[in-house]
Amino acid sequence: MIDVAFLGTAVRPAGTAVVIDVLRATSTITLALASGYERVLVAGSIDEATALRTPQRTLAGEVGCARAPGFDLGNSPEETLEPRGAELVLATTNGAPAIVAAAAAADEVLVASLLNMAAVLAQLAGREDILLVCAGTDAKVSIEDVYLAGRLSAKLDGERSDAARIAEAVAAAYPNAVDALDASAGAVGLRREGLESDIAFCAQESIVDVVGRLSETVDGAALLTAAPAAAGSEPNRTPLIM
Ligand code: MLT
Repeated sequence: MIDVAFLGTAVRPAGTAVVIDVLRATSTITLALASGYERVLVAGSIDEATALRTPQRTLAGEVGCARAPGFDLGNSPEETLEPRGAELVLATTNGAPAIVAAAAAADEVLVASLLNMAAVLAQLAGREDILLVCAGTDAKVSIEDVYLAGRLSAKLDGERSDAARIAEAVAAAYPNAVDALDASAGAVGLRREGLESDIAFCAQESIVDVVGRLSETVDGAALLTAAPAAAGSEPNRTPLIM
């Protein structure tokens, strides 16, 4: 069964949970792993991320889309292009808590964005119990996450729930990813903070082949690493930048 949870707070047990926060947490995680960070520790809150700080770790995250006070990086994917070490710690408003919740509920957790859409589909081949988890924006359903859930659902084999069909209908309503992201609640905060270039960046499709996957939980944080390449695909760890 392919199902969709329209909010991160609606995560339920599943064989594979695929967490989606296109603007921007899962795009940032994907690009960080593709850029050379070996591990991304996803924290449930800013305070939890701060508690994970060590001299070797880089802290990234946002509050209201702006860089969290005292953090090394914000939540723009491109800020991860030049890794400062092996480990990135990330805390965000909706996407990071959705990943932490999925880690507690699902047998397997993957992280999806438009940037690695084809690689995610390759990873999902043969899976039978898939829950596409849309993080949402400020606890409300957001177009950009449902858009990607619909794009993924439409390419997967298997029975679909009504929620998956609704997501597919949303995806079909937009001629391209930029239009969907532009129309979303997630884009509003980015424009307010002068970060609108992140919208076009996150709308790029399948520019990296890396998929973040939950390895373990460490001090309450979800530790993500790059999943081994799916059968028939070679990992592309060199992001193509527009
Ligand atoms: C979130 O987790 O709410 C988002 O990633 C916010 C953002 O765009 O930074």
